[in-house]
Amino acid sequence: MNILILGSGGREHALAWAVKQNPKCDRLIVAPGNAGIAALAECADLDIMDGAAVVAFATENAIDFIIIGPDAPIAAGVADDTRAAGLLTFGPSAAAGRLESSKAFTKEICDACHAPTAAYARFTDATAARAYVIRQGAPIVIKADGLALGKGVVVAMTLPEALAAIDDMFGGKFGAAGAEVVIEEFMAGEEASFFVLTDGTTALPIGSAQDHKRAFDGDTGPNTGGMGAYSPAPVLTDAIAQKAMDEIIRPTIAEMARRNTPYQGVLFAGLMIEHGQPRLVEYNARFGDPETQVLMMRLGAQALDLLLACAEGRLAETRVNWAADHALTVVMAAKGYPGPYQKGGVINGLDRMPEDSRHMVFHAGTTLRDGLVTANGGRVLNFTARGDTLADAHNRAYAMIDLVDWPDGFCRSDIGWRAL
Ligand code: AMP
Ligand code: GLY
Repeated sequence: MNILILGSGGREHALAWAVKQNPKCDRLIVAPGNAGIAALAECADLDIMDGAAVVAFATENAIDFIIIGPDAPIAAGVADDTRAAGLLTFGPSAAAGRLESSKAFTKEICDACHAPTAAYARFTDATAARAYVIRQGAPIVIKADGLALGKGVVVAMTLPEALAAIDDMFGGKFGAAGAEVVIEEFMAGEEASFFVLTDGTTALPIGSAQDHKRAFDGDTGPNTGGMGAYSPAPVLTDAIAQKAMDEIIRPTIAEMARRNTPYQGVLFAGLMIEHGQPRLVEYNARFGDPETQVLMMRLGAQALDLLLACAEGRLAETRVNWAADHALTVVMAAKGYPGPYQKGGVINGLDRMPEDSRHMVFHAGTTLRDGLVTANGGRVLNFTARGDTLADAHNRAYAMIDLVDWPDGFCRSDIGWRAL
């Protein structure tokens, strides 16, 4: 079959890598793709936010299956357009995608289905929000309702921080995303990411991961999109995963179906776990980045069968084959990230890397210039390895980093520390 993946990051490279290994995949196009993806698929210049353009492109190229990577086209309703055109699509409708694009909506769903999550209140004006925060005290969490490139959440450890966050959000720092603000109870515990495929009815867990949001070693420095991840997450034991399925995931899926906005795609639940009890931090309506890199490393070619079963409503008859393995990815980012950074530096040494079922360098922000791989983003490369133990995966990933020559890059040296 002919497959189109939308997106250009490490997540999409990992999806493409897994899909390509499946003999069902004849032709693979990734739009827009990047320098690493170009080594295994065709890259196409296509505006992935434009549903009509995606439909036209898919029709012209006889595409049988579309996989949507990032959140923005989901929120823009690209899956609605492709499905309306009769194209088999992996990814939720804009209405179901509100589980990511509106934090207030997610809270409303949790209320309706009694899913455990932080207590909260919603505000559309700063005065009432400030008064509430002063009554509640710190620590407290302030969230812009809408999509804010992962930057719309402030975990305020003090009252002045909380009040400043409210002023920022209502002052327009996040544009329309901050027109409504959700204020939440601070939850203590350990976080894990839980990935569940659903066709609207059946829910099939496909793995867990933990990521590292802070830029520097020891979980210091500014928040980023994620500096590394590993799978599985030991904190998400079978018993806790079962609890999360029973108390959070299945009730959410049932509530979405009840509202006639069934959720189809991957539901990525951020969980906070304390004393054996999972609580929902947030939903994402897409795969995580860099969590997908470790999930795909572990799932391999069966990933395509799983995504197809999800899109075709066949999850009830589908199983995941798990190996008792571990995967770990280390993100190499441009010095300065998540602040301002340089683009355009040449990356050498990638040809020395082993690339097989245990080692892959997924490209996140790269482009080809005069045949050379150059940095073209904040997060640039994901050194990803699989092993029988987490320590084995860790050692393999860092051994790959020793082979790369990119003076403008940096990475954390302690990915996986919590579990090692
Ligand atoms: P979100 O974008 O909702 O995932 O929030 C980003 C990060 O903020 C999460 O990964 C958590 O580390 C933290 N966070 C969000 N909500 C809470 C909460 N209620 N209590 C504690 N930490 C939170
Ligand atoms: N790594 C977190 C995310 O993809 O949202």
